[in-house]
Amino acid sequence: MVSLPGSPATSLLQVLFLGLSTFAPPACAQLQLHTPAGLTRLRAVEGAEVVLPAWYTYRGETTLAQPPLEVLTLMWFLEQSGKDLKQVLAYINGVTTSQPGASLVYAMPSRNVSLRLQGLQEKDSGSYRCSLNVQDRQGKSRGHSSKTLTLDVLIPPAPPSCHLLGVPRVGTNVTLSCQSPRSKPIAQYEWERSPPSAEVFFAPVLDTIRGSLSLKNLSASMSGVYICKAYNEVGSAHCNVTLEVSTGQ
Ligand SMILES: *[C@@H]1O[C@H](CO)[C@@H](O)[C@H](O)[C@H]1NC(C)=O
Ligand SMILES: *[C@@H]1O[C@H](CO)[C@@H](O)[C@H](O)[C@H]1NC(C)=O
Ligand SMILES: *[C@@H]1O[C@H](CO)[C@@H](O)[C@H](O)[C@H]1NC(C)=O
Ligand SMILES: *[C@@H]1O[C@H](CO)[C@@H](O)[C@H](O)[C@H]1NC(C)=O
Repeated sequence: MVSLPGSPATSLLQVLFLGLSTFAPPACAQLQLHTPAGLTRLRAVEGAEVVLPAWYTYRGETTLAQPPLEVLTLMWFLEQSGKDLKQVLAYINGVTTSQPGASLVYAMPSRNVSLRLQGLQEKDSGSYRCSLNVQDRQGKSRGHSSKTLTLDVLIPPAPPSCHLLGVPRVGTNVTLSCQSPRSKPIAQYEWERSPPSAEVFFAPVLDTIRGSLSLKNLSASMSGVYICKAYNEVGSAHCNVTLEVSTGQ
């Protein structure tokens, strides 16, 4: 290639200009894919469904007019760190192919290309990239645009198991433990004693992260049913353990 005269900045501009005028007519820059303002991350609960909203316009247009004669190539990809890019849905030459549970919210052709995901699983978490190519009927490009939305699939705590660690005799110490096998984000824990002698426990006897309740210097009056609640922002689950403090030696 012949080197262009002028400063590096001028050369760059010329290269850009040549590039644009060769491969992309000015009209192409006008295609714009949109997601709701300020929305980059969505959260949804395992088993439920979610809609990843996206639509396109041409700059200067204000309404979502019915598509003119244009040919769409639409793809939704899932990007997960350490994994290959996965195609979730594609609409090419009027044909839609998709992974199980994935569908378009609106029948094509539509300028609203929102993706619906049903029966969510934890492994559906990741960055969803919508990529759109539009050509007119003559095969001339009307532009390309892409947008990304990140999805976090959350899991309410599974029922925890409660255990008594230690021998509950007057004057000894015991620990009540509580663990939920599965949750996202990680569960936190609360312990309380059920009526008639209801009591709620706090740190330092309660470890909200590990789920343990430390009871020291037991007395007979501390006998009763202790209830643990495992919770996160999308749900909670309980278990309990009965403490019987014996007076025998
Ligand atoms: C496209 O559809 C989504 C999902 O129904 C919706 O949230 C969004 O507002 C729609 N976009 C426009 C511009 O109507
Ligand atoms: C019970 O806990 C107290 C306070 O932490 C400690 O001083 C004591 O040694 C413990 N007793 C037993 C039997 O471990
Ligand atoms: C344990 O409790 C008894 C009565 O409940 C009390 O007299 C004793 O001082 C306590 N011991 C400790 C180490 O706190
Ligand atoms: C303790 O758990 C059992 C089953 O795990 C339940 O039937 C019972 O109602 C619970 N008791 C209290 C006081 O929560």
